[in-house]
Amino acid sequence: MIKPRKCVLEMKAYHSPLPGPGIDLRLDMNESTTGCSPRVLKKIRSLDAKLLALYPRRESGEKLVADFLGIKTGELLLTNGADEGIDVLSRAYLDSGDELIIIVPAFAMYEIFAQISGAKTVRVPAGPDFSFPLDGVLQAITPRTRLIVITNPHNPTGAVASRKDILHVLEAAPDAAVLLDEAYFDFYGETLMDQIGKIPNLFVARTFSKAYGLAGLRLGVMAGAADQISVLRRIAPPFNVNAFAIECLAEALNDREFVEHYVSQVCSTREWLRAALEEMGFKCWPSHTNFLLANFGELRPAILDGMTKKGIALRNRPDCDGCVRISIGTQQEMERVLAVLKPIVAARPVAQQALR
Ligand SMILES: Cc1ncc(COP(=O)(O)O)c(C=O)c1O
Repeated sequence: MIKPRKCVLEMKAYHSPLPGPGIDLRLDMNESTTGCSPRVLKKIRSLDAKLLALYPRRESGEKLVADFLGIKTGELLLTNGADEGIDVLSRAYLDSGDELIIIVPAFAMYEIFAQISGAKTVRVPAGPDFSFPLDGVLQAITPRTRLIVITNPHNPTGAVASRKDILHVLEAAPDAAVLLDEAYFDFYGETLMDQIGKIPNLFVARTFSKAYGLAGLRLGVMAGAADQISVLRRIAPPFNVNAFAIECLAEALNDREFVEHYVSQVCSTREWLRAALEEMGFKCWPSHTNFLLANFGELRPAILDGMTKKGIALRNRPDCDGCVRISIGTQQEMERVLAVLKPIVAARPVAQQALR
């Protein structure tokens, strides 16, 4: 066998958590359960064979997204999902022995991409009730810190960091790239996109996988100061974003009614589910995303198993005691979740009934 790099050999294989057969309701990946805008679908159906014969032109899509975000074209890179943006950023700024700071529990890909670079991950635990650990992050910064990730709103907790705290971190680490991962921005509304071009070490990531219902299309955005984005362009493959994604962008961005309707449905269903789960005695943290983190305590294995048997996939979070992450679907889908949950809860031994 040809020997790979040492840091790659040391990595564990990443197993996609995609559920197996028998699952017809996926609530484990924070995808939309209702699909994308019909205008996007119509556009895809109208594309012809000739278009697919050509290499895609990312630049036309970048102009559309930059105008939409109110930044300059040179201040963003379109990526093959936000994942690729994180990968490109890690490869641009992390060398072997450098440090990446993340707040745990965290989205898994930050650490995976850092490992590929041979960098060390410094894990700062979230504060009480998963609040943003400003002091912990500030204390973790060293001369080797080259990348700090703030996921806002945070995955898997749904918690948010204040603008003031994020600005504090940016100022405290002027030699590190600070990635503000705004994958769930549309469900929250607060952003630092307005600081792109003004703060040299700020990067903001967005995705079309969540509120736009386009996870399968693979489309993400990495925004940053123009000179830093030109560095990322050296690394990103020239045809990283596929032709379907580029051709659909205008429809995806312009169908505001679709995105707004979906976001409003998700937010109200999320609050309804949170109230129902709390009523059953399960702690659920306030969320500004399209998912909820619930503490099922000792019932977690029984609940995960019961859901799988009924065709529903939820995301186990072994990094949070007793917790499970539930993507928000339609009201009907959430009622289906509760219908599976209720008999499991009713059957639990009395000793487990006070979870809070
Ligand atoms: C915080 C966060 N960042 C990035 C991503 C990746 O998004 P994409 O599908 O655009 O690669 C996800 C997906 O779940 C996410 O939760």
